[in-house]
Amino acid sequence: MRVLVAGGAGFIGSAFVRRRLDAHPGDSVRVLDKLTYAGRRENLDGLPGDGVEIVEGDIADRDAVAAAALGCDAIVNFAAESHVDRSIHSPGEFIQTDVFGTFVLLEAAREAGIRHLQVSTDEVYGSIESGSFTESSPLSPSSPYSASKAGGDLLVGAYHHTYGADALIVRGSNNFGPRQHPEKLIPLCILNGLAGDPLPVYGDGMQVRNWIFVDDFCAAIDVVLDRGEPGVAYNAGGPDELPNIEVVRGILALTGREESLIEHVADRPGHDRRYSLASDAVRALGWEPAVRFAEGLGRTVEWYRDNEWWWGPIRSGEYRAYYERQYGRALT
Ligand code: NAD
Ligand code: TYD
Repeated sequence: MRVLVAGGAGFIGSAFVRRRLDAHPGDSVRVLDKLTYAGRRENLDGLPGDGVEIVEGDIADRDAVAAAALGCDAIVNFAAESHVDRSIHSPGEFIQTDVFGTFVLLEAAREAGIRHLQVSTDEVYGSIESGSFTESSPLSPSSPYSASKAGGDLLVGAYHHTYGADALIVRGSNNFGPRQHPEKLIPLCILNGLAGDPLPVYGDGMQVRNWIFVDDFCAAIDVVLDRGEPGVAYNAGGPDELPNIEVVRGILALTGREESLIEHVADRPGHDRRYSLASDAVRALGWEPAVRFAEGLGRTVEWYRDNEWWWGPIRSGEYRAYYERQYGRALT
């Protein structure tokens, strides 16, 4: 199988490319990626050269997508603007990529008669106080990011319903692991912990997230790509739910820092209090998450400790200005 992986140079997309080629050595992958601040060719280093082709291009560009889809048997779409805080400051790019870009990919898949797997998020359901979201829970997104992802999901459903397109969705909970951009909570706090910078906690830090190690999420996507039903959305949630403050304390312990480094800062506008996913449908396809949060966090801290070549250029580039704008203080 030749798989077009849109957004394959990002955090989860690059882990998926690794996973796909490991689990299916006969497959090949073409990555279509705009290489925004979040996408990097280095994320695909070390993969067999004849197994992966990287094409720089925008999923919202019909010609680029049509050319990239030629000869492919399926599309898996990771490409997105993915950070809630950036969506609050500049929502326009989120609508363009996450909604319009998804539409362009769906059109290309429909024309070619191939499967489109949309990678989505638990955030499309909004916040839940107790219990867990199932795939039939109503969509109620809170942020421009989650609203744009919900828009993409609704298009996937409409393409299946109206045109009989072989389109389906996997909705993941909060991912963590190697190669995640440090704008996100876990890598941000690991790098700040290593550097001795304060760890910014929004509000009271009691917001709960359902953490999934990135390789487990990629395994779920792999199973659904091969065995999922057209038109169906599959939740893939991790095995552990934790309040942010506990996550941050765990990072402090692993980086050898004191709790005095925690800094409670102004809360995120519209901040969802809790996410939780029930993942029975993907479990019925034979999937199980393998990595508990504590183990995954240890592995992740170790990866960042050992790979300054990867994050050094990020922490000294555009991210510094972003950080100052977002947190009102400079990184050391
Ligand atoms: P990321 O920001 O690390 O990577 C996004 C990738 O998409 C980058 O390589 C970027 O260059 C590329 N991209 C952005 N706009 C593009 C465009 N217009 N055309 C082509 N490529 C473009 O994001 P991630 O964390 O790896 O998330 C991947 C997907 O998984 C996203 O769709 C996201 O909504 C979803 N998701 C993420 C999480 C999470 O916790 N990170 C959880 C569930 C679902
Ligand atoms: P994030 O990694 O941005 O993922 P998402 O918003 O998609 O869940 O944030 C995870 C949680 O951590 C979320 O509740 C917001 C919180 N958070 C902080 O408390 N401080 C921070 O500096 C960041 C980036 C996030």
